[in-house]
Amino acid sequence: MASLQEQIQQYEQEINSFVPANAAELEDYRIRFLGTKGIVKMIFGEMKTVPADQRKEAGQLLNGFKILAEEKYESFKSLQASAAAKGPAIDNTLPGTPLPLGTRHPLRVVENKIISIFERIGFSVATGPEIEDDWHNFTSLNMPQHHPARDMQDTFYVSTNPDWVLRTHTSSAQARILESQPLPIRVICPGRVYRNETISARAHCFFHQCEGLYVDKNVSFADLKQTLYYFVTEMFGENTKVRFRPSYFPFTEPSAEMDISCTVCGGSGCNLCKHTGWVEILGCGMVHPNMLRNFGIDPEVYTGFAFGMGVERITQVKYQVNDLRLYSQNDVRFLRQFQSV
Ligand code: DAH
Repeated sequence: MASLQEQIQQYEQEINSFVPANAAELEDYRIRFLGTKGIVKMIFGEMKTVPADQRKEAGQLLNGFKILAEEKYESFKSLQASAAAKGPAIDNTLPGTPLPLGTRHPLRVVENKIISIFERIGFSVATGPEIEDDWHNFTSLNMPQHHPARDMQDTFYVSTNPDWVLRTHTSSAQARILESQPLPIRVICPGRVYRNETISARAHCFFHQCEGLYVDKNVSFADLKQTLYYFVTEMFGENTKVRFRPSYFPFTEPSAEMDISCTVCGGSGCNLCKHTGWVEILGCGMVHPNMLRNFGIDPEVYTGFAFGMGVERITQVKYQVNDLRLYSQNDVRFLRQFQSV
């Protein structure tokens, strides 16, 4: 009996410290202790060697041992079953699966740059509708019916209403601002515009502009030049030169077009500047008195300047994009190049 007790104690120690690393080890345990030729069976077989007066005590000892061996097995069995149900464990040290990220469209990158430059000198941002009426797109901008300047822009008309057009320029937003906002006004209006052009490398039926308008007492052409010079140096770098050429727009007097020194060759002559050293980037001028009058503003008291630039044009000059169609073809090989700008 004493040796049986010792044997059981030894096995109990073994059972208590047993932790299976996997299902195979647990199965080995089952076979070793609980199998048909296992230890529990073998120890029960020893009972016959125990003297009759000690049988009761030995029986209790053996039952306790059997329960211990079985409980150990059952507890690990259910642990393993629930781990299997949860699926494989997650290894947090494995590298993640990268998600493909989109990039900002170059026109949006440039539009955002334009906005942030003008915001820094006190301009706010406004927008207007892309479907416009004749008054805001033409007539109020000093372009009455049959004015020859209307032919400069091939207009899309809305077939259900001859008074409606797809705006041909963001200058229409100028008209809406003069109509609705109190003076002084200092605002830029970025947005999409439409013209009935055949699509090619150099023309598109829709593109983007950004308009600027400043109306207050004592606004002069010098303010216009200084504002645009600031814009150019912020957008293209400190060493960029500007020049103004006289031009004509019905809604400004005097009017000018502004060129900058070529960003590619620096002025020595290349394809971008067509070997002139200069590239045109925008139109501008002092707001025409007739336009101010159209919105009830006295041109004897208030003056203003305005400018309008093509966002595609600024992007072309800044990043040397030579085909307008690239902007709307959604070719990721083109778009990805602007990942870091
Ligand atoms: N609206 C003109 C265009 O689309 C650009 C422009 C020129 C806007 C002079 C202006 C301006 O505000 O003053 O060609």
